[in-house]
Amino acid sequence: MAIFFDKDNNLFHLRAKDTSYVLRILEPGYLAHVYWGRKVRSSNLDYTIPFVNRAFSTWTDNIENFSLDAIPQEYPSYGNTDLRSPAYQIQLENGSTITNLKYESYNIYKGKKKLEGLPATYVESENEAETLEIILKDNIIGLKVLLSYTVFENYDAITRSVKLINEGSEKLKILRALSANVDFRDDEFDMIQLCGAHVRERNIIRKPITVGSQSIESKRGASSHQANPFIALLRKNADEDNGEVFGFSLVYSGNFLANVEVDQYKTTRVHIGINPFDFSYILRPLESFQTPEVVMVYSDSGLGKLSRTYHKLYRTRLARGKYRDKERPVLINNWEATYFNFNENKIKEIASTAKELGIELLVLDDGWFGKRDTDKNSLGDWVVNREKLPGGINSIAENLNSQGMGFGLWFEPEMISPDSDLYRKHPDWCMHVPNRNRSESRYQLILDLSRNEVCDEVIKMVSDILSSAAISYVKWDMNRNMSEIGSAVLPSENQRETAHRYILGLYKIMEQITSSFPDILFESCSGGGGRFDPGFLYYMPQTWTSDNTDAVERLKIQYGTSLVYPIISMGSHVSAVPNHQVYRNTSLETRGHVAMSGNLGYELDVTKMSEKEKVAVKKQVDFYKEIRNTIQFGDFYRLKSPFESNETAWMFISEDGGEVIVYYFRVLAEANVDYKPLRLKGLDKNSEYKVTNKDRAFGGDELMFIGLNIPSLQGDFQSYIWKFKKI
Ligand code: DGJ
Repeated sequence: MAIFFDKDNNLFHLRAKDTSYVLRILEPGYLAHVYWGRKVRSSNLDYTIPFVNRAFSTWTDNIENFSLDAIPQEYPSYGNTDLRSPAYQIQLENGSTITNLKYESYNIYKGKKKLEGLPATYVESENEAETLEIILKDNIIGLKVLLSYTVFENYDAITRSVKLINEGSEKLKILRALSANVDFRDDEFDMIQLCGAHVRERNIIRKPITVGSQSIESKRGASSHQANPFIALLRKNADEDNGEVFGFSLVYSGNFLANVEVDQYKTTRVHIGINPFDFSYILRPLESFQTPEVVMVYSDSGLGKLSRTYHKLYRTRLARGKYRDKERPVLINNWEATYFNFNENKIKEIASTAKELGIELLVLDDGWFGKRDTDKNSLGDWVVNREKLPGGINSIAENLNSQGMGFGLWFEPEMISPDSDLYRKHPDWCMHVPNRNRSESRYQLILDLSRNEVCDEVIKMVSDILSSAAISYVKWDMNRNMSEIGSAVLPSENQRETAHRYILGLYKIMEQITSSFPDILFESCSGGGGRFDPGFLYYMPQTWTSDNTDAVERLKIQYGTSLVYPIISMGSHVSAVPNHQVYRNTSLETRGHVAMSGNLGYELDVTKMSEKEKVAVKKQVDFYKEIRNTIQFGDFYRLKSPFESNETAWMFISEDGGEVIVYYFRVLAEANVDYKPLRLKGLDKNSEYKVTNKDRAFGGDELMFIGLNIPSLQGDFQSYIWKFKKI
């Protein structure tokens, strides 16, 4: 039983494999947070909530010295006696923003319900998880708040979400509705965040927390390149393999806030959810509002264990569809090979050369539709450009299929170019605000997906193309962020719902398209990794990690991404040198090793390669096919961080433990190098591991406790791989 209610002590005890999460109903009806951390046996735990007289903290329900300001809480209100930041805030018709929630009832059941209209983790059988629902109520206004907690016992994860229901008779305006609140009893933590920019996404930043608020957020209408909807608190002594880490990952692709507030008594409040900035939502009587889900993972053994927990849960109980458990094809994408400058023959040539090299699928990127020879026009006109492709999409698809290759197509369905037939027909379909400039970015505007008719048209346009040819892969791109956020059809009081309604519209579109075309593998993309978030993984099991394809830069990007996201979800391509983003020259071998540490593809003109290079690529592709099961479905261990030194190393262990792949990278050459053994992780210390192609075996204990010698490598940007088989 993962969830237990101790009636005598009014305690809810949630237990996953190594984790406990405990809450308690306090008289007169407040829901307090008791504990989250390493698994503990049940006891009454009443001493954990101190009732101390705190000056300048007002008394709740006028009970002497009982102040919510000094009590850890589960879902704090605004306007009662807690003077820290609230988890939600509602404005009433009389202008007041004061509410007060009290416990009403609970329900425990096996399994997990779907979140209406939102992506979320799921169960395949009822026994995989147990759910606790707690109802809190403000009886004065009839606001009901349903807190849901699901324990994935064997995955060692707990998910939370909140539903606000208006059971009163007046209109409620939600100003803030976060998905989770956790109050820790002290502040001895560092915080980790994954922040960056376009082409340098998800850099790991670790910093101590301090009194006051520290937050990461997106106000850009997308989870964004700049911030990722994830934070973790770490004990000061925690590192990759040791110590306590508390992870919060939000399953949402729009504006978000993750805030850490340390108060006067050095307690730490963590919030995560939809960004309250420029957000409000009108809840009429009988209407409800569902927040996105937060996936909370506790690790008692550092960041490595935290990541492996997220990887497994997200790979198998967030990602869905036919490709969830299937090895992903090695692909070639024509973007960096040709940009907009291609025709049918060129694409067919690239495909047939790629086929000789063992590549399994070709993705035709931007430029196949409308009159799109530059990025200045045609988004919204999803009709094949017959000048470039006289035989149409189908001719290419058939040509590829006849060679045994799959065919993939690029779309940017959420966008509209002012120079497009769609815009000329529906100039009000873009997101805009009357009398304000419609600011373009990359010559494009955003379709207003808060409108049903716009969503329906997007579904129709994309579906028509997908049904017109044998397409087995779609790259779903999105290349700008929101400005002048507003919808032509929403009443004024609902305007601040637009950005969230856009995301709900987008989720509806993706649900419909991905379920109508279950045989298509979908890859999401937003100028690379601008929406690499759990919300997208629910619809599309892989993401183009970054527009930066430089092998050296990718070390940090892929390392940072691996903190939360499964390796199989990371698109990773070998591109030409000098690299198009940073103009660096790296060897084909190093580029291959970096790309093979994810979901391998190629993005260069293979027809222009020398014979020697083609032989090398063929070898890479053959080798990747041999190891991809381990890379895509195995356990991932980080060994050396590119954020800490000149070296990076990581390793993969197959699901059955029988195959081990280790990659080592050294960025700049060093003279007279130190002796630094590379210690492996996660092996069976009592087993022997044989290096393939060599007559040499090592004990698992040797590999983990003594370590491998790093061979002598010459020059900059070097890499090395070891492959072991367990004997
Ligand atoms: C941005 C993507 O990240 C690129 O890979 C490419 O598809 C371009 N858009 C095409 O416009």
